[in-house]
Amino acid sequence: MTGAATDWPTVPVLPDPATGAVLASGLLHELAHAFGGPFHFLLPDAFDANLAAMRRTLAEAGVDGFVYFAKKANKAAVFAERAAAGGAGVDVASAAELREALGHGVRGEHLVLTGPAKDPGLLELAVRHGVLIAVDSPGELDTLIGPVAHEALRPARVLLRVMPPAQPHSRFGMNDAELATALARCAEAGNTVRMEGFSFHLSGYAIQPRADLAAHLTDLCLEARARGLDADRISVGGGLPISYTDADSWRAYLQGHDRRHFHAGKSFRAADFYPYHCDEPGAEALAALLAARPEGRDHALADILKSAGVTLLLEPGRALLDRAGASVFTVQGVKDRDGYRLITVDGTSLSLSEQWFNSEYLPDPHLVPRDPHAPHVPDTTPDPAGPYPASVGAGTCLESDMLTWRKIGFPRPPRTGDLLVYPNTAGYQMDSNESRFHDLAVPPKVVIDRTDGDRPRWRLDRHFS
Ligand SMILES: Cc1ncc(COP(=O)(O)O)c(C=O)c1O
Repeated sequence: MTGAATDWPTVPVLPDPATGAVLASGLLHELAHAFGGPFHFLLPDAFDANLAAMRRTLAEAGVDGFVYFAKKANKAAVFAERAAAGGAGVDVASAAELREALGHGVRGEHLVLTGPAKDPGLLELAVRHGVLIAVDSPGELDTLIGPVAHEALRPARVLLRVMPPAQPHSRFGMNDAELATALARCAEAGNTVRMEGFSFHLSGYAIQPRADLAAHLTDLCLEARARGLDADRISVGGGLPISYTDADSWRAYLQGHDRRHFHAGKSFRAADFYPYHCDEPGAEALAALLAARPEGRDHALADILKSAGVTLLLEPGRALLDRAGASVFTVQGVKDRDGYRLITVDGTSLSLSEQWFNSEYLPDPHLVPRDPHAPHVPDTTPDPAGPYPASVGAGTCLESDMLTWRKIGFPRPPRTGDLLVYPNTAGYQMDSNESRFHDLAVPPKVVIDRTDGDRPRWRLDRHFS
């Protein structure tokens, strides 16, 4: 039931002292006992650090910019609170997200409302609170100029969302003809609309297409100004990548894995994996974007923005949540299979949303021994008899409900009562798909306010679903 290390490709997570301190503290076993089920812990100081790094990058480039946290990436109240305290805004895409952000301290004018075909009630709420609205279609603009304008009694602040030419099948944003219509209506709308600029959100993580489109939107701002509109800002959406593992491990994983390494011979397309390593994560990707020279231009994007007097808006989700949380499950049982083990935990793959997108959340989970009084054994401690490959299934009746199809090469045998801690799950993984399937409780979120003392200090997050 063991195998040579090279048989089991690994995706070791990058070191993170704050997560390490929580793992070593013994707190997680106490919380698992208290909650009697899976839970997540949040490290909001990481959010603050990621936000500060992005703001520093903008300042160093001399670019006027504003960061909105894309709330869809995590429902916890603490991140909206930290955004408000740190001088950031929040990107919301539903009435519930808008209410949550306002209720946790973010001012209306520091919100941007995104998403397609927003209903009139949500638009009206947004206008009343001075929220910037990324308009997705001429029809939505008509609603703002017509019925909503009469109810809200203040100008609607709008961006016009552009359909990326490189992604012509996107269901979001406006094509050239729709943009022309929308611009004409903004120009005719008088005081009911304040047209502040343009926006886009691109799939993928490439820098150059973002720089190219940002430069194009800057030109559109200049054209709109010539028609008497304000047009002094552009939003480049989200898509700043993060790095979960180091370059060598990721390369080795991509080259070394095949169906034998997955429970039931499962296979995934390599192209469907998130790029778990990138050389320029988070704020470094932002620096690269600002330094990039858009196609056909003589200057870097930063200079183009500055000379046009255009403010750069960003809507990062995942990148603000890098290292800001992890998900904890208790091992409920272990079965032997042919050459590997099958672990069952007390939660479901709904708490690891990557499993629901024809893909797999690959960073290796930490195995924390069941005896709370035993010293913490780091996962890297070599065991001459190991590794011990095991896949991880949910405590549900669905055959396909797997937290990890991959046979993870654990450094020691997993046992009932051990904890499995999936690292770096705050960005989208932990809560975007959670439900009360099987009448199970939605896993609570614990905010770890401090990790530097003898003991981490914790409290429950204030968001209740
Ligand atoms: C309009 C918009 N902005 C921002 C984001 C956040 O993207 P990310 O988490 O990759 O930064 C998304 C993600 O879907 C989005 O649709």
